[in-house]
Amino acid sequence: MGGRQIYTGESALLPGRRRSRAFSGDNAGVVGMGLMGSSIAACLLAAGHNVVAIEQDAARISKARRRVSALLRGARKERLLKADAKSLLRKLSISSDYGHLHESRVVIESVVEDLDVKRQVIRKIEQVVPADTLLGSNTSAIPATLLQQRALHPERILGIHWGEPAHITRFMEIICGRNTLPAYAERALRLARQWGKQPSLVRKDVRGFITNRVMYAMLREAFHLVESGVASIADVDRSLRNDLGYWITFAGPFRFMDLTGIPAYCAVMRDLLPDLDTSKQVPRLMRRLVQSGAQGVVNAKGFYRYTPAQARRWERRFLQFTYDIRALAQKYPEENGRAFESEGH
Ligand SMILES: NC(=O)c1ccc[n+]([C@@H]2O[C@H](COP(=O)([O-])OP(=O)(O)OC[C@H]3O[C@@H](n4cnc5c(N)ncnc54)[C@H](O)[C@@H]3O)[C@@H](O)[C@H]2O)c1
Repeated sequence: MGGRQIYTGESALLPGRRRSRAFSGDNAGVVGMGLMGSSIAACLLAAGHNVVAIEQDAARISKARRRVSALLRGARKERLLKADAKSLLRKLSISSDYGHLHESRVVIESVVEDLDVKRQVIRKIEQVVPADTLLGSNTSAIPATLLQQRALHPERILGIHWGEPAHITRFMEIICGRNTLPAYAERALRLARQWGKQPSLVRKDVRGFITNRVMYAMLREAFHLVESGVASIADVDRSLRNDLGYWITFAGPFRFMDLTGIPAYCAVMRDLLPDLDTSKQVPRLMRRLVQSGAQGVVNAKGFYRYTPAQARRWERRFLQFTYDIRALAQKYPEENGRAFESEGH
């Protein structure tokens, strides 16, 4: 599979290409019904798909069904669904049998973040779905090109990076690997819009894509501030919530610099960038916490201490906040001005 053309923009592919079909009424598949797989399934059901879900761990199957049901009921309560949750849930089947995916026109893989496991899962999916089924991997950072290696039809594999909770956020990144055919990227972008997303196209297959590259740079500096005694965990959290948290949903970093005056950022960059942490190691605090078994609110053990009741309350409040921030963001629709780069710079 030699390096094919990387998709660089929607307009580049429409002329002369056979448009591949993509309907929200198509059968869709989800593999891995953990945290994200469940909310992805809820999103696909809400968009009108029949959903076939595959979960290898039998103990998780009924739990996943209950979770999707709860997510749909919550979305209905928030007026995000036209149909009632019960009728949507009837369009969901969950089993451990990959054979049930055979009619799926699009399959989202959302198993653990492990290249070998994802490759094995992709291989199992490819053995049962039609040759032109779109195969999207919900990886947080693995380049799509690595997932294409050893695949039967690498041209239909791409990264589809969702944000949790996937049925509420508008976030989606579509990442082409070296061998992805543009027609599949086009199909993914069309589907993303049918799913209520505002997708971004990642033009080069870089690890971490857009948001995770930026977020992990921020996380590294946050650890550095804590580990070097500059501020406590709670103070770092408080500052970021009250500063970045107030504008990032509204503007994004470049628009924000436009809004607040560009030259000052240039001056600050000159002096501050050399001072920022550039370590390539996982921070010690992070390693210690993981070794101690901390997973976060899911097991009530994290950077903060929780009773089980407090942990559940944080989960509920996070979900509610996501609805609220979505409603707020919709009051300020994006106005796409021409960006500097589109003028040839
Ligand atoms: N959690 C997030 O906020 C988030 C955001 C964006 C992307 N992601 C990505 O989504 C993917 C899933 O993350 P998650 O948070 O839902 O994880 P999770 O641990 O909740 O779920 C993982 C699922 O994978 C299944 N699984 C594990 N090994 C398997 C195997 N060998 N074969 C088939 N299935 C297997 C598990 O049974 C489980 O249902 C990861 O790649 C993660 O990086 C997560």
